[in-house]
Order: sequence, then structure tokens, then C-alpha cells
Amino acid sequence: MHRVTKAVLPAAGLGTRFLPATKALPKEMLPVVDRPAIQYVVTEAVEAGLHDVLMVTGRNKNALENHFDRATELEATLIAKGDVDRLAEVRQSTGLAQMHYVRQGDPLGLGHAVLRARSHVGGQSFAVLLGDDIIDAATPLLQRMLEVHAIHGMSVVALMEVEPDQAHRYGVATVEATDAEDVVRVRGLVEKPAPGTAPSNLAVIGRYVLRPEIFDVLEDTQPGVGGEIQLTDALRVAAADEAHGLLGVVFRGRRFDTGDRQGLLEATVTLASEREDLGAEFRAWLRAFVATLDDRP
Ligand code: G1P
Repeated sequence: MHRVTKAVLPAAGLGTRFLPATKALPKEMLPVVDRPAIQYVVTEAVEAGLHDVLMVTGRNKNALENHFDRATELEATLIAKGDVDRLAEVRQSTGLAQMHYVRQGDPLGLGHAVLRARSHVGGQSFAVLLGDDIIDAATPLLQRMLEVHAIHGMSVVALMEVEPDQAHRYGVATVEATDAEDVVRVRGLVEKPAPGTAPSNLAVIGRYVLRPEIFDVLEDTQPGVGGEIQLTDALRVAAADEAHGLLGVVFRGRRFDTGDRQGLLEATVTLASEREDLGAEFRAWLRAFVATLDDRP
């Protein structure tokens, strides 16, 4: 009854934090090592068993669609050269998932982007993955959330402890413990609380498993923080509704927030240093480079 097959990836942000790189390129296409950030997220959805991926796009969507589509000329060139490794890389993103696209139209907020998925998703529960968050594949958060959803039938959000001075950047939850060590019942949620007013240090991170009733709630959700229709505000209503209910899975693995320059750089350096093909040479360079930083503040 609670089988989930569809993933929704909002990808309509303007990426203003990365200008000028994002003037003509969607921010989701910025590379982390050698693949676009969004490819890590699509891969995560597929590895959790969600092969149907709907992207909610905005302007400049062509690069996103092209990346997950066939590139026949490029493939023919690589075949002619006998470059099988690169050919495999090029084909990898094509065969990854069944990709679908819908345009958000007006950028009215995350809640509005999710609502645009309604006709594609229909009456099933579904997952939402925010493209800015890359979750370390070693700790399969989404799988755990799907499991919790299958057991309890409630919507599930991912939560992570953050430093108190960072809480204002997130949706923040008030929770109660459950019998499972990593699962909490969410009793309240506030989007981007003013600094110093967060009700806890448990922040919502960019993974959600949602019951389809959330669409009805979103239809009635008024603009909130920043004048945007906030998914967090709709989830607060779901949390208060006993028939719907909201659980949180507390994530203790590694997450990279590629939504700003610092996070994108950290993700790139960390993941490059761990890559089998690049890691050894990159780590050697990195050690030598770090040594040159000693005299700098
Ligand atoms: C969004 C959500 C917020 C959540 C965050 C996680 O905010 O609105 O509740 O904590 O993602 O990254 P955004 O980062 O889009 O401002």
C-alpha cells in the first residue's frame, strides 16, 4: 500500500549564489569532480529503488534534459576512437532512470514546486530529493526513510543535528522519541526561524517521503517565509493531523550542501580525494598544498 516508486527533484532555482557560472547553466549542472551535482542525487534515488524521476525545472532546463538523454554524436565519436570507458560514463546518465520533466512556471517556492508534481505522482506516496544535498552513499538515508514509511504509513522527513547558529538556514523540528533509536515523531516545524529562536537543533535536510494527501494541504498553503509557499508549512499541518502524521529519521552520516560555494568546494575536494581513479594523486597534491597554507591566516 505504501510502495514508493517515484522521486520528485525540484530543480528550478536560479542559482544566484553561483553567478556568473549559473548565468546560462542550471546550478544543478555544476560539477562535483566530473559529474553534475544532480547526477549524484538521481543516482541516490535509483539506488533506493525509485526509477521514475520527475524534475521540476525552470529556465535553462535544456542542459538538464540533455544530460539525461542520449548523446548520439558524442557516442559515435567515442565508439570510433574506441574510448569505451568514457562511452560508459556518457551512457551511464542516459540509462539511469525514467526521466520526466515539468516546468514550475512562477518560482513561488519549494511547496509550489512539489505541487507541480501532483498529476505525475497521482495517489501514491512519493519521495522528494533536493538537489543541493548530496548524501554519502555509505549511509543510505533514503532507503531507511522508505522503510520507516512502509512500516508506519506516515510521511517522513530527514533530520540532522546542526550547530545552533546554523538553524536559521533550515526548517527546524520539535520532536518526541519513538521506540526506534533513529526515528522521532515530529510535533512541530518552523521554516527558517529567526536566529536564536529555533525550537531545537534538529534541521530538516533535503529528503522527504510524502503521502499524497500533502498535495491537498499544499493547495491551501499560503506564502510563508520569504513570500514563498513553503513545503515546511504544509508538513506542519501534516504533523498536527493524527490521520496523516509525520516522522523524522535522524541522519548521522555525511551530507554535502552544494547550495553555496563553500559547500560545493568541500564536496568536490572530499569526493575527489576518495575516488579510486583520482584519489591517490589528488591526496598527494592536497597534502603538499595544505603545507603551503601554514603561514596564511
Ligand atoms: C529548503 C527547505 C528547508 C530545509 C532545506 C534543506 O530550504 O525549505 O526547510 O531545511 O531546504 O536544505 P532552502 O535550502 O531551499 O532554502
